[in-house]
Amino acid sequence: MKTDTPKQIYLKDYAPPAFLISETYLDVVLDPAETRVKSRLSVVPNPALKRRATEIKLDGELLRLLRVCIDGVPVDEQRLVATDKDLTIRDVPAKPFTLEIETICDPAANKALSGLYLSRGVYCTQCEAEGFRRITYYLDRPDVLSKFRVRIEGVKPDTPVLLSNGNLVQTGDLPGKRHFAVWEDPFPKPSYLFALVAGKLAMVEDSIMTRSGRAVTLRIYVEPGKEDRCDWAMRSLKRAMRWDEDRFGLEYDLDMFMIVAVSDFNMGAMENKGLNVFNDALILARPDTATDSDYERIEGVIAHEYFHNWTGNRVTCRDWFQLCLKEGLTVFRDQEFTADQRSAVVKRIEDVRWLRSMQFTEDAGPLAHPVRPSSFIEINNFYTRTVYNKGAELCRMLQTVLGRDGFRKGLDLYFDRHDGQAVTVEDFVSALGDANGADLSAYLLWYNQAGTPTLDARLSYSEGAKEARLTLSQTFPDLPGQPKRKAVPIPVKLGLLGPNGGEIPLEVEGKPVDGGLVVLSKKKEVFTFEKVGSRPVLSLLRDFSAPVNLNAGARDKDMLTLIRADTDLFNRWQNAQAFALKHIVALASAIAKGENARVEPRFVAAVGEVADDDTLEHAYRAAFLALPSESDVALAIGENVDPEAIHQARTLLRAAMGKSLRAILESVYERSAPAEPYNPDAESAGRRALRQSALSLLAAGKSRFGIARVKEQAKTATNMTESFGALSILSQVGGEAYDQALQRFHRKWKDEPLVINKWFALQASSPSPDTLARVADLVANPLFSIQNPNRVRSVYGAFAHGNQVRFNDASGAGYDLIANAVIEIDGFNPQMASRLVGAFESWRIFEPKRRALAERALGRILDQKELSPDVFEIVSKIVG
Ligand code: ARG
Ligand code: ZN
Repeated sequence: MKTDTPKQIYLKDYAPPAFLISETYLDVVLDPAETRVKSRLSVVPNPALKRRATEIKLDGELLRLLRVCIDGVPVDEQRLVATDKDLTIRDVPAKPFTLEIETICDPAANKALSGLYLSRGVYCTQCEAEGFRRITYYLDRPDVLSKFRVRIEGVKPDTPVLLSNGNLVQTGDLPGKRHFAVWEDPFPKPSYLFALVAGKLAMVEDSIMTRSGRAVTLRIYVEPGKEDRCDWAMRSLKRAMRWDEDRFGLEYDLDMFMIVAVSDFNMGAMENKGLNVFNDALILARPDTATDSDYERIEGVIAHEYFHNWTGNRVTCRDWFQLCLKEGLTVFRDQEFTADQRSAVVKRIEDVRWLRSMQFTEDAGPLAHPVRPSSFIEINNFYTRTVYNKGAELCRMLQTVLGRDGFRKGLDLYFDRHDGQAVTVEDFVSALGDANGADLSAYLLWYNQAGTPTLDARLSYSEGAKEARLTLSQTFPDLPGQPKRKAVPIPVKLGLLGPNGGEIPLEVEGKPVDGGLVVLSKKKEVFTFEKVGSRPVLSLLRDFSAPVNLNAGARDKDMLTLIRADTDLFNRWQNAQAFALKHIVALASAIAKGENARVEPRFVAAVGEVADDDTLEHAYRAAFLALPSESDVALAIGENVDPEAIHQARTLLRAAMGKSLRAILESVYERSAPAEPYNPDAESAGRRALRQSALSLLAAGKSRFGIARVKEQAKTATNMTESFGALSILSQVGGEAYDQALQRFHRKWKDEPLVINKWFALQASSPSPDTLARVADLVANPLFSIQNPNRVRSVYGAFAHGNQVRFNDASGAGYDLIANAVIEIDGFNPQMASRLVGAFESWRIFEPKRRALAERALGRILDQKELSPDVFEIVSKIVG
């Protein structure tokens, strides 16, 4: 709370812990308001340090301290100093000792959802990053690894299920309808991987045999009655386990793997050792309640958390600055998994689309930070798009330069060297380099510098020499508060296309260019390709081989050739997006000036050809039909942005596409129906996605065929993908049909929170001018609860992050709405408030009137007397 300005923590100040904790025994007696925790810690002075410390400082928050003993003897008051953040014990022995501490915490009052809390009557924990200190006093830092033994005691009828990490070693009944369970985790772990769950939970069980022949029991725990929605999560888990063995040689290491779904959760999920805790939105799925994208996300997040067992748990982070070490690598691994399960090119397109719109925005604004930050106030603010998704791109880049096998060799060495350790980004990069006899240290710059580099490319052709000269250069944008940045190595995958679209073999200095990959390792470099018979078309940055802004200055004609004919499918899409982006920017500028805005027919025709091409995957064609978002366009314009003009421009282009491609889209719709019954697999989902894109454009073009199909689909669909898909198209059409469909949907699903989230989110993201009034109604709806993060995300989050034109409404009412919500939420859940306020990150790119209104709203937040460090850190950066 805002007593004084919160303290910055710096990477350069890292110091190893003065003490280690070899063993941790916890005895937890559950009670809603007074849970008693007795800890017994085997404390060892850190043998790596020369000087012996005489006092030990333990982290702890919101705890009531009852008793401290050292080696069985009570420590008297004068040797204890407790603040609201820690507990210092003076004059501790110079040799190993046993420290016992007894405290009380209050799970029922915990609405921050960090530490031990109650979610719909279920006790659960979230300890990453610094939640364990809200359970007991401890050395709550990732470089202190300890073996945990945990006894949990509770009232049997209230908490029949008692879970913690590792293996169940003992259970028993106690007088007064009480019982207990003891869990032991054989793997030393940092406190952030501790978990405890207790409550009335139903369970679905399966098993798998690991590659080396060990049987592992798999369990998913959910609210009773939801057992029929765990099938997909379980199947995804089994596929993920098998995939990690096949692709990376990594096997599961305990006899049991458990997942628990809870309905109040700040983030997506958490990889606690052997006991993952999930937001139930990322577990529960049934065809009638979950969409194809839900199924895909569940598969991906299940895999992500499972993969952490090696990348994160067996090898963990030395300190929180190294967060990308586990998150970037694990996101990369889950992306590769999904690419193998589904379509590699479609997955790459999804990831790049998201990266460019979400991470590039972050990297270009006031919240920009290196993948490995050098300072923070609140670590929870750094679970960011940059750490996760740019972090994943850096792993991918390293795989691109080393090759798949080289990357695998590197990871093998990383695990050989560091299993059971808490390490740094340098350790990771060294292992990859050493295993391949390569010096990768230049890539560390990518981890340490903020901002997206721009890659400039110029191609010139010499008819006489039959040479194509490619000049590549890089620049970094100016970012306030960021030091001057050095040139980074940029791996660039490319191809040259001949006159009939054929691929020209690449040769430099008489040698073929392996995999079409060149690396720009300086500020500027020229690559001369030999034996090029005629002026080629350049296909650049295939696969998005580096996270850069591309400035290829390509002519429209060449871009259209690439959209139609590039042999690289990813780059066909990339060029179509670039073309669309440039086009919408031009349309928006014309609209703002009151000039005539003309749609480019050659672009529309090229997109139509792809949509019509049955030799391409359905999902790929669907991705092709999706235009850049309104915020992508705003980011491309970069200053004095008028969000209304962008909205109109994009709507205009969509309507034109719907009209001129009517015949193609109708036919594509008719011939792409998936097989019945519903199957969430990639092929059927792709068909539904293509039909949805086609219908949506048809409706934008006011096609009677399209609108009739949508209305019918809204009534008759038997799966959520088609039912919600129709509802969202109706929301663009508006009118009575939409209102009725909304009401029907509400009536049918009012008892299903996860479905009602969709109903909330759709209304909050509508560009219609009445959305501001609707959002006010939605938060007054009895189904809304400001304490539930999923509900907050579906109303306030969808509005602030997904509705550019209304959040940035000229009246300023959108800013005020979110500012008020941030202030209210900050009173009980700073993490959630701080995520929401991040929606203001782009305020400076808008035109002056909106800027003034946004600044006023932000000022009002900063003026709050009791502001959490979380929100303070974000808002003070945004205001700058
Ligand atoms: N490690 C989790 C993941 O898999 C994220 C948990 C972060 N939670 C938090 N409160 N910061 O991505
Ligand atoms: Zn993760």
